[in-house]
Amino acid sequence: MRDDRTISMKLLITGGAGFIGSNFIRYILKTYPEDRVINFDKLTYAGNLENLKDIEKDERYRFIKGDVCDFAALKQAAVGVDAIVHFAAESHVDRSIHSSREFLETNILGTQNVIDVVREQGERGIRFIHIGTDEVYGDIESPKKSKYGDPVIPSSPYSASKAAADLLVMAAVRTFNLPAMITHCTNNYGPYQFPEKIVPLFISNAIENKPLPLYDGGTQIRDWLYVEDHCRAVDLVLRKGKAGEVYDIAAENDPEVTNRMLTETILNILGKDKSLIQEVSGLRPGHDQRYAVDASKIRTELGWQPQISLAEGLKQTIKWYQDNQAWWRRVKTGEYQAYYNNHYNKS
Ligand code: NAD
Ligand code: TYD
Repeated sequence: MRDDRTISMKLLITGGAGFIGSNFIRYILKTYPEDRVINFDKLTYAGNLENLKDIEKDERYRFIKGDVCDFAALKQAAVGVDAIVHFAAESHVDRSIHSSREFLETNILGTQNVIDVVREQGERGIRFIHIGTDEVYGDIESPKKSKYGDPVIPSSPYSASKAAADLLVMAAVRTFNLPAMITHCTNNYGPYQFPEKIVPLFISNAIENKPLPLYDGGTQIRDWLYVEDHCRAVDLVLRKGKAGEVYDIAAENDPEVTNRMLTETILNILGKDKSLIQEVSGLRPGHDQRYAVDASKIRTELGWQPQISLAEGLKQTIKWYQDNQAWWRRVKTGEYQAYYNNHYNKS
């Protein structure tokens, strides 16, 4: 199996037109001049080729519009690749509460298809990274931190579907000796994040002087990792990780950050008034209070550590949203506008 940084790789990235996938593709092409990347993405509402406009003409990059639920298309796209990094997913908790079916199809059946494609390669041994989430562990009481081996207690249809996908990957490792690894990362933020997630939603609403709908008192705690630090972690797992292992990835923000603190920091950096905060409730039944993950394994075994502090990362992210208003203003129209009106008018 390939694990040498000096050998060039041909990568199949699923979901590469989304937030983290597009940042990962850009990171790989920037870091490894010899690598080639195929981006396999269905282009759902969250997939946007504009996220990759700056590299679309790079001859090392190729885009294939395809659905991970379409086994034949996925298998065809994987011909000759050295590794698959599987980001494709339905990823928004609130949407999974409104309608779960697409989450089960893409996140569970789609992941089984990736497993089957990797299995079919047999001895050739395609490396496979399944991008999971810390949300599979569910709520965790302070001051505890979750890590692999802890109970999996997902709270939303999104996290339940991601947990199911993890279990299928682990079963394939055990039964078929699949050369797979799983990562569980905490909340990401940064450029190109779809403005349904709290950070880009609140930045863009604040720029527009629109209310910032803060759920359930804003006391919830998430761990915030800058997307490029996540990309570095996935890349290390890809090149140096051990087949069959699970790597938990976290910024381990210290002190921990409540949603209210995060919101006030965003307003502060933008020079906007706290009166933009709109307290809402009832929009996220089953709302998890706190996620916290112990990332000591990836820190000690692979030597990873985040390089960008939350204060610095938020400043850079806000600047990006200030400088790229055309991007998010376009994204916020159409399907998204209908979703937003429907979801937030229920509060
Ligand atoms: P995203 O919603 O921004 O992007 C998902 C991408 O997958 C989109 O480009 C979409 O078009 C594509 N896609 C969806 N269904 C598909 C299908 N059936 N076939 C092919 N492509 C499909 O999501 P993201 O925030 O970039 O998250 C990427 C991955 O990282 C997901 O697996 C998510 O569970 C995981 N993750 C996200 C975070 C976070 O904070 N955003 C944290 C930890 C883990
Ligand atoms: P989100 O960005 O949806 O990520 P996740 O649910 O995957 O952690 O939400 C992060 C936190 O922000 C979560 O506690 C819910 C809260 N939140 C709000 O308060 N208002 C909002 O409009 C959204 C989208 C989220």
